[in-house]
Amino acid sequence: MSDVLIRLSQLGKCFSGPAGDVTVLKNINLAIERGEILAVIGKSGSGKSTLLSIIGLLDNATAGHYALCDTDVRSLSHYQTSILRNQNIGWVFQNFNLVSELSVLKNVELPLKYNKNIKKTDYKAIALKQLERVGLLDKQNNFPEQLSGGQQQRVAIARALVGEPDVLLCDEPTGNLDSENADQIVDLLLTLNAAGSTVLIVTHNESLAQQCGRIIEIKDGMIV
Ligand SMILES: Nc1ncnc2c1ncn2[C@@H]1O[C@H](COP(=O)(O)OP(=O)(O)O)[C@@H](O)[C@H]1O
Ligand SMILES: [Mg+2]
Repeated sequence: MSDVLIRLSQLGKCFSGPAGDVTVLKNINLAIERGEILAVIGKSGSGKSTLLSIIGLLDNATAGHYALCDTDVRSLSHYQTSILRNQNIGWVFQNFNLVSELSVLKNVELPLKYNKNIKKTDYKAIALKQLERVGLLDKQNNFPEQLSGGQQQRVAIARALVGEPDVLLCDEPTGNLDSENADQIVDLLLTLNAAGSTVLIVTHNESLAQQCGRIIEIKDGMIV
C-alpha cells in the first residue's frame, strides 16, 4: 500500500482576469507521505498560498492532477469535496481566524458541527481533548481577545485538529508572532508531527523551515 497522502502531478494554476491569464503554478510534481512534516518557502507572490489552497480543496488546479488519499479530487462532486475538506484537512492561518464572539471552547467545537457523524453531546469532550494537547485547558471559557497571539494560534491549532484531519495546512503560522511565541508554535507543530500528524507549513521563518523533515522552495510558480 502506498503511504502517499498527497500526490500532485504536473499541477498548474492559471488565474484569468480582465488583463489576461496569469500562470501562478506550473508543472508541480510533489508526493507527500503520511507522517511527513514539510516546509514550503519562497518569495512573496511565488504561489505558496495558492498551492496550499489547492491542496486544502479551497481552490482547483487548472492543469495536471491532484490525488488526496488516492482519490483524484476532480472526480468528486461539490458535496463530496466539502466532506473530504471537512474531514481530512485542518487549516491554520497567519491571523488565527478565531471567532471573537465565541469562547475558546466554542471556537474549537465549531468544525464538529459540520460532521454529521459526531453527536452534539460529544462536542465538548472532543474539543477539550484537543485543548489539552495544546496546553490551554484552563483558557476554555476565555474569549480570543483575552489571549496572547501565541495562545490564540494554539486555539486555532486545536480547532484544526478537532476533526482528526489527515493533514494540517499552516499558512505562515508564526507570521504574526514574536519570536518567543513563534518558537512555542514551532515546538507544538513538531510535537504534533511526532505524534503522527502530517504537517505542511508555508513559512518565512528560517529556523522553522530548518526543523522540518523536508523543505521545498517555490520560485516563479515552480518547485526548485
Ligand atoms: N484569486 C486570484 N486571482 C488572481 N490572481 C491571484 C489570485 N490569488 C493569487 N493570485 C496571484 O498569484 C500569485 C501568487 O500568490 P500567492 O499564492 O498568494 O503567493 P504567496 O503566498 O507565495 O505570497 C500572486 O501574483 C497573486 O497576485
Ligand atoms: Mg501567501
